[in-house]
Amino acid sequence: MNPSAAAVVGLGFVGKAHLEALRRLGIPVRGILGSSPERTREAVRELKIDRGYSSLDELVKDTSVSAVHVCTPNYVHHNQAKAALEAGKHVMCEKPLAMNTRESQSLIGLASGQGRVGAVTYNLRYYPLCHEARALVKRGVIGEPRLIHGSFLQDWLLYPTDWNWRLQPELGGDMRVVADIGTHWLDLLTWITGKRVMELCADLATVVPLRKRPLGRVATFQQSVGETKDFQITTDDYASILLHFEGGAHGVCTVSQISA
Ligand SMILES: NC(=O)c1ccc[n+]([C@@H]2O[C@H](COP(=O)([O-])OP(=O)(O)OC[C@H]3O[C@@H](n4cnc5c(N)ncnc54)[C@H](OP(=O)(O)O)[C@@H]3O)[C@@H](O)[C@H]2O)c1
Repeated sequence: MNPSAAAVVGLGFVGKAHLEALRRLGIPVRGILGSSPERTREAVRELKIDRGYSSLDELVKDTSVSAVHVCTPNYVHHNQAKAALEAGKHVMCEKPLAMNTRESQSLIGLASGQGRVGAVTYNLRYYPLCHEARALVKRGVIGEPRLIHGSFLQDWLLYPTDWNWRLQPELGGDMRVVADIGTHWLDLLTWITGKRVMELCADLATVVPLRKRPLGRVATFQQSVGETKDFQITTDDYASILLHFEGGAHGVCTVSQISA
């Protein structure tokens, strides 16, 4: 097995970013897998890839692949990451790792049992400013962090006509904004400060309770066009979370996908 050759599953917004990053790093991408044979063929043509797999099973049986990048909607992460780990591959899985703690825990156990890397794409850690912030804390330059506050505010789901699979709990999970971007903030701040969250309470709100779901396909971060159907929203598009960190630090974080 080549020590570093990859395959990418899911070629939407973030899958294309993974592909670009792999190419820039000079890591060979052996093949890709889309949501259907037709979508795989389209992506193979568009992205100039040598091989499109016909199934996940075919992908994980490719002995030339050592690492699988899982870039699909949240509800398939667990099964795809599990299949790749069981086949002896390293896995780079998009956040949130799975739909619930039980699934996440089982993947962590599987990766360590197989002696393979199980990584989650908390890419914000790698921004130079975030490295600098972590180094300042580590060196004691700012002293002991006592108050940790911040926000992650987006506007791309502001209008009732804005749509994405993340709005459907069976695809994205029962929590939305917290799992989608709150998870980045929490990961980043625990990484920068080196302090784990010990307890929390949160105010979650569905500010746009009724949305227009397009009958056709709509790409992530794109505006939908054409006919729509009313869709009742049950997931959070705003959250403010009060946090207690280990060592006694207090924190508050506000996340939203409807702030402009
Ligand atoms: N780390 C970050 O900063 C970051 C940023 C954005 C997204 N993400 C994460 O990345 C994941 C994907 O998000 P996205 O924004 O890229 O969504 P997206 O644009 O909708 O892309 C998802 C892709 O997966 C394909 N797909 C769906 N089911 C599949 C299956 N069973 N097998 C193979 N491919 C399948 C979809 O195909 P169709 O279009 O044919 O359905 C689509 O091309 C999510 O978990 C999200 O949280 C992370």
